[in-house]
Amino acid sequence: MKILVIGGNGTIGKKVSQRLLEKHEVIIAGRNSGDVQVDFSDASSIKKMFGKVGKVDSIVAIAGDAKWDKFNNLSEDDFYIGIKSKLMGQVNVVRIGKDYLNNGGSITLSTGILADDPVDMTTSAAMVNGGIHSFVKAVVLELNNIRVNVVCSDLVEDAYEKYKDYFPGNTPVPMRKIVDGYVKSIEGKITGRIIRIMA
Ligand SMILES: NC(=O)c1ccc[n+]([C@@H]2O[C@H](COP(=O)([O-])OP(=O)(O)OC[C@H]3O[C@@H](n4cnc5c(N)ncnc54)[C@H](OP(=O)(O)O)[C@@H]3O)[C@@H](O)[C@H]2O)c1
Repeated sequence: MKILVIGGNGTIGKKVSQRLLEKHEVIIAGRNSGDVQVDFSDASSIKKMFGKVGKVDSIVAIAGDAKWDKFNNLSEDDFYIGIKSKLMGQVNVVRIGKDYLNNGGSITLSTGILADDPVDMTTSAAMVNGGIHSFVKAVVLELNNIRVNVVCSDLVEDAYEKYKDYFPGNTPVPMRKIVDGYVKSIEGKITGRIIRIMA
C-alpha cells in the first residue's frame, strides 16, 4: 500500500512509520520535517499537500496540539488552538483526504486517554479528543468504501519522561502496542472504531 503518515516523524509517528515501511511505501508529512510539508490546522495547506502527494491507499494522522492550562486561565482563543489543530485538522484530513483515497482505502486518526480519563489542565485537550471520537462514529455512516478509525492511547513509553508528572499513576504504553493499534486500523477491515490502547 501507499500510505501517507501526517506526523510520521513525531514520537509516535516515527515508530508507526518504521513498522509500516517493512511492508508498504510510506510518505511522511510534517510541519517542518518529512517528505512533504503541511500545516494541518490550515485546510488550504492540506489541499496543497494532497495535490503534491496524489492518491494513496491509506492516510494516517498522528499530530495535533491543544493548549494545556487551568480552566480559569483559558481564553476563548486558547480553546480555538485545539479546535483548529487537533480537532478540525483531523476532520479536514478526512473531509479533503477522502477524495485522494483509492477504492477501499482507510483513514486513521489519533486521540488519547484524556477523552475518557482527563487530568488537570486538560479541559481543551480532553474536549477535542472526545469530539474526534464522536466524529469518527458519525462519519462512517456516510462514507462508502472508505474506512475511518481512531487510535486512542494512554501516555506512551517514549514520551513518559517528558509527561509523567502530568499523568500521575498512568502506566506507559509499550511502543509496540501502540504501533499495533495503527496496524490494526490500516491493514485490518474494521471501521468506525475507537481503538483504545492501554498498558
Ligand atoms: N505522546 C503521547 O504519549 C500521546 C498519547 C496519546 C495521544 N497522543 C497524541 O498523538 C499525537 C502525536 O503525539 P506525539 O507525542 O507523537 O507528538 P510529537 O512528538 O510532538 O510529534 C508530532 C508530529 O506531528 C507533526 N505536526 C505537529 N503539528 C503539525 C501541524 N500543525 N501540521 C502538520 N504536522 C504537524 C510534527 O511535525 P515536525 O516533525 O515536522 O515538527 C511531528 O512530526 C498528538 O496529537 C498527541 O496529543 C500522544
